[in-house]
Amino acid sequence: MTITCPIYYTAGPIQPWVDAFARQYPHIKVVDWQHIRHPEEVRYAIVWQPTREFLQRFPNLQAILNLGAGVDGILGHPQLPANLQVIRLKDAGMAEQMNQYFAYHIMHFHRSMDTYQRQQTQQQWLPHPATPASNFRVGILGLGQLGRSVANCLVSLGYDVCGWSRSDKDIDNVQCYSGDEQLHEFLGQLDTLCCLLPLTDSTRNLLDRHTLQRLPKGAVLINAARGEHLIEDDLLALLNNGHLRGAVLDTVRHEPLSPDSPLWQQPGLMITPHCAAQSWIEPSVTQIGQNINALLAGTEPPGLVERSRGY
Ligand code: NAP
Ligand code: GLV
Repeated sequence: MTITCPIYYTAGPIQPWVDAFARQYPHIKVVDWQHIRHPEEVRYAIVWQPTREFLQRFPNLQAILNLGAGVDGILGHPQLPANLQVIRLKDAGMAEQMNQYFAYHIMHFHRSMDTYQRQQTQQQWLPHPATPASNFRVGILGLGQLGRSVANCLVSLGYDVCGWSRSDKDIDNVQCYSGDEQLHEFLGQLDTLCCLLPLTDSTRNLLDRHTLQRLPKGAVLINAARGEHLIEDDLLALLNNGHLRGAVLDTVRHEPLSPDSPLWQQPGLMITPHCAAQSWIEPSVTQIGQNINALLAGTEPPGLVERSRGY
């Protein structure tokens, strides 16, 4: 049986996705959503950040398959049918890229590259003592598919790593904290705080002045999760008063970042355009096909999101 799935994707061309499905799963016909002739027959849709118009066009959807890890762009729709199954990607090439992204930025600060960049502007030739990675304490908010991978990568590079999640974890060489009651203890010892949390009602605005002030003076923030985790004005204030040494933002509250945002000009702040980790086509298609096959067989899809907890 051939099934037709509309795809909503504006981050690049659709054709490579269509071709990959044709290669890997010839029974799944993926079609640009605007070319679907009988929208009422559609049961499954493949999307990245769909509009309200898209969701309204397919009244009999049973499952929506997200082309990324974070499902906040779907769950945030007010009219999302209550029984619609939401399915996410797990890793799909993103863990490797997140490892690189965090390792790169952590080494930047651990090896004092921010200081050397500043010195260069003053033509200053002044080496500083190097310290072992084991003396540089990195904390990761979120120990899921991506956070756990980054934690293991940083351990392999010799860093002193700890992490925070909702439920208790046991990860080799990573000191694990969980729950709101352990958040302050976790924050109070860090040289760098990394955010890889999903955006939910419990994590929105978590990175505010109150939380960031719990970090020791001179700490760094790296957020590659979602812009809505962070109160941007609070970050700017803490960079300007010297409490924070620096920050890296891959995501901001309103994307793309507006040309008149003060974030662009802030000393000590590095911005990247939501590119820390991208879903790779082949592994993503493999997973989506497995999820659709599970739906067709009436079994639980491996990427099913728990809608009540928001991730
Ligand atoms: P995941 O597998 O769902 O892991 C989420 C982690 O966050 C879990 O460890 C979870 O705890 C923890 N968590 C959730 N709510 C919490 C809370 N209230 N308090 C404490 N911990 C909480 O997600 P993932 O695949 O690693 O992805 C994480 C996020 O990264 C995505 O949601 C997305 O927003 C972002 N992302 C960004 C990019 C980019 O390019 N910038 C790319 C991909 C993903 P438990 O383990 O206890 O459930
Ligand atoms: C990207 O931001 C994702 O959630 O996959």
